[in-house]
Amino acid sequence: MGLDKKYETGILWQDTQHRQLIDLMEKLSDSNAREADPKMFTYTTAFLAMYVTHHFNLEAQYMTTYEYPDREFHLKEHTKYIAMVKEFRRDHTSFSVEGSVFLEKNILKWILDHIMDNDQKLGEFIRIEERKRILAQER
Ligand SMILES: [Fe+2]
Ligand SMILES: [Fe+2]
Repeated sequence: MGLDKKYETGILWQDTQHRQLIDLMEKLSDSNAREADPKMFTYTTAFLAMYVTHHFNLEAQYMTTYEYPDREFHLKEHTKYIAMVKEFRRDHTSFSVEGSVFLEKNILKWILDHIMDNDQKLGEFIRIEERKRILAQER
């Protein structure tokens, strides 16, 4: 389990949270979840939804602070994803093979694609902005 190096943005909090999100999704799509405590699935999907919101809020805060030019588009993507996760929770209250397949093909795939594109761009932007600020302080 974990996050392939190619998904790293180089921003510590962002990489840590991405790793946790992927771990949660892998835990949910794991067929062992069927035999485990049935409540585990509901708790984990609830936690995933909460964690996604928390993570997106933090990215949004950075976008505002550093006046990220692609902010609006990035936020729209987040909104779409929150709706997808919400729908998933509504349709899947316990483990099923269909749910597991949907999770991997949609929920997990979406976030990996989002990290590879939007989040890496954001991460790079944050790195540059933070560097600028450090340099300005040293002057
Ligand atoms: Fe992210
Ligand atoms: Fe994002």
